[in-house]
Amino acid sequence: MAVSRRRDGIYGYVEIDNPPVNAIGQEIRQGLLDAVDWAEAEGLERVILSGKGRALAAGADTREFDAEPPPPHLPEVANRIEKSPVAWIAAIHGFALGGGAELVLACRYRIARPDAMIGLPEVNLGVIPGAGGTQRLPRLVGMEKALELIPTGKPVSGVEAKAIGLVDELDDDPVGYAEMVNTEWLGMAVPVGELNSGAAEPEDFAKARRAAENRMRGQVAPLKAIELLELAQTASLEDGMRAEREAFVELRKSEQARALRHIFFAERGARAPDWLTAEPAKVEHVAVVGGGTMGAGIAYALVNAGQAVTLLETDADGVERARGNVGKIIDSSLKRGFIDDDGAAARRGRLTVSSDYGAAADADLAIEAAFESMEVKAEVFGRLQSVIRADAVLATNTSYLDVDEIAGTLADPSRLVGLHFFAPAHIMKLLEIVRGKASSERALATGFALAKRLRKIPVLAGVCDGFIGNRILSRYREAADTVLMDGSTPWDIDEAMVEFGYAMGIYETQDLSGLDIAHANRRRQDATRDPNRRYIPIGDRMVAEGRLGRKAGVGWYRYPGGGGKVVDPLIEDLVREEAHFAKVARREFSADEIRHRLLLAMVNEATAILGEGIAQTARDIDLVTVNGYGFPRWRGGLMHYADTLGAATVLEGLEGLAKEDALVWAPSPVVRDCAEKGISFSAWRR
Ligand code: 3HC
Repeated sequence: MAVSRRRDGIYGYVEIDNPPVNAIGQEIRQGLLDAVDWAEAEGLERVILSGKGRALAAGADTREFDAEPPPPHLPEVANRIEKSPVAWIAAIHGFALGGGAELVLACRYRIARPDAMIGLPEVNLGVIPGAGGTQRLPRLVGMEKALELIPTGKPVSGVEAKAIGLVDELDDDPVGYAEMVNTEWLGMAVPVGELNSGAAEPEDFAKARRAAENRMRGQVAPLKAIELLELAQTASLEDGMRAEREAFVELRKSEQARALRHIFFAERGARAPDWLTAEPAKVEHVAVVGGGTMGAGIAYALVNAGQAVTLLETDADGVERARGNVGKIIDSSLKRGFIDDDGAAARRGRLTVSSDYGAAADADLAIEAAFESMEVKAEVFGRLQSVIRADAVLATNTSYLDVDEIAGTLADPSRLVGLHFFAPAHIMKLLEIVRGKASSERALATGFALAKRLRKIPVLAGVCDGFIGNRILSRYREAADTVLMDGSTPWDIDEAMVEFGYAMGIYETQDLSGLDIAHANRRRQDATRDPNRRYIPIGDRMVAEGRLGRKAGVGWYRYPGGGGKVVDPLIEDLVREEAHFAKVARREFSADEIRHRLLLAMVNEATAILGEGIAQTARDIDLVTVNGYGFPRWRGGLMHYADTLGAATVLEGLEGLAKEDALVWAPSPVVRDCAEKGISFSAWRR
């Protein structure tokens, strides 16, 4: 790892070399500073700055952020580059993000490959650009564009960068082009820091604030970035950068930034566990059974990743519907510019839809996404195993059914693995890979390899009712229903959790997915439910009254004319009536109390999942809750959040609630263990 430099005549070449993405740590900063001195001492005319490997630079090395990054600091490096009498030219390929983009802004001239990605994504890590980004970008591209880019963290392609004036030229060989830049032009180029910052109307800043509050609710960094952009209108570069640095340093230490870094690195580290060394099946052709919403989404995700897919349905009507479902996703991807006409045609070309299972005979993997019924699953797998190659891996997308029971219907149960996708399957990043008792390592490894190919975040889960995510969700619902019965309303409960950072509350979410799904699950669980456990029948009553959610126009809320939700006072009557039947004396719950109960319920269930080995680590639970269940990303996931409370506080809270209902609130052994040992949940191991 280093910054290499080389002289050729009056040109200097400085290259950042820190694989895999040229993150800018202390050594790189020092190397760049030394290169500035070197170029000046050598009397060079220009320095061409580039990166080795995949990128110019992906930004500051965020692994340094847990402590005070050692000097020299990046603002000093950027300022020295900008002020140097030697003209620095940025030759950008791959990424120039964060601190990488700030180096680019400090250069006198900028050349990018058309497919480069340039941006200031710091807000996604809970910080703001800390090396002049908020002060130089508006000077170069204007305040309006800067307001669009920095608070959202959105990068732009080389082509877009040229269009907005962020780079001067596009070329497939930016270093070669930099050698050709006319010396006179270079001499005339004004350093970005000396340009006028441009201005925007107060209403533009207000609009940006509203957008940030909507898109990244609860997060501090986007609002701080807007404040600094506003300052750039009036402050000198020096003053603006001083304020920016202070804000950056403060945010870097904040709980939000810590949480966002945690989840960033957790996502990068999501891969097969070390013990899983089996060779995955080579997958080129996948059969997907069931062309409903889930199956169609899975099929699209697969063709999108270059796989040949045979989508199987039961009859001609089903085939037509399934083709239509995938077609709709292709059309919408086309319309939204994610793919072009050729891409759409290629995806259609990779898809076969059929009611003949024989069409799947040579598939390497089959994923069942049929109706959630054991009989249906058994029939599907029976048909599959009679036609498909003996070495093909079989997978079920079941959300709740027992994977071991499904495996038991197969001649060779070791072929089966659970691949639990989340709807819409072509968008949602999470993939729970469910390990049945008999699942072979090859089948599991195939699941992880597929996740990588689909660019999904894989999490290994054991078999239980709901695996990791849905099991926590069930407990969340149960706790919410109890608060509802005992005195609250769906909207107060939803609002409390939205304030916590969820995009949507549990009742609105249920309205969206349909109340019949949870109802069917409750019926399935009837046989095994502990008869001593308190049961809240309000959801059943809702279903009995046809209040199935959005699709019925009425659920926990009302949706007049198919539009947005409105509070429905009839629900209050319905709940009061149920409470009366159950002889419950209702009382008020504050938003804090609601959050306390719902969050502790989830944390307790999650720690039980950890203790039973259903999840391997607390980090895996964070990945599941953030990427599949809307837990606020900036809180780092459920277990990261629980660690900010501390195990002792969690235990105390649960013991308090257990006085009300000892069965439901009994602290899990992991909570007790962590509290006794004084360790975090993330440090706990079986
Ligand atoms: N610091 C440290 N490590 C980083 C890093 C960074 N900024 N960016 C990426 N990495 C590491 C990843 O952890 C991963 O490590 P691993 O191989 O050990 O798991 C490796 O680089 C490859 O990363 P990805 O797996 O994410 O590779 P992709 O090709 O999918 O994505 C990327 C590449 C788009 C650069 C993506 O990694 C990314 O978005 N990185 C973060 C960019 C960013 O936010 N930069 C701003 C940093 S803050 C800053 O610059 C402050 C400044 O203003 C002062």
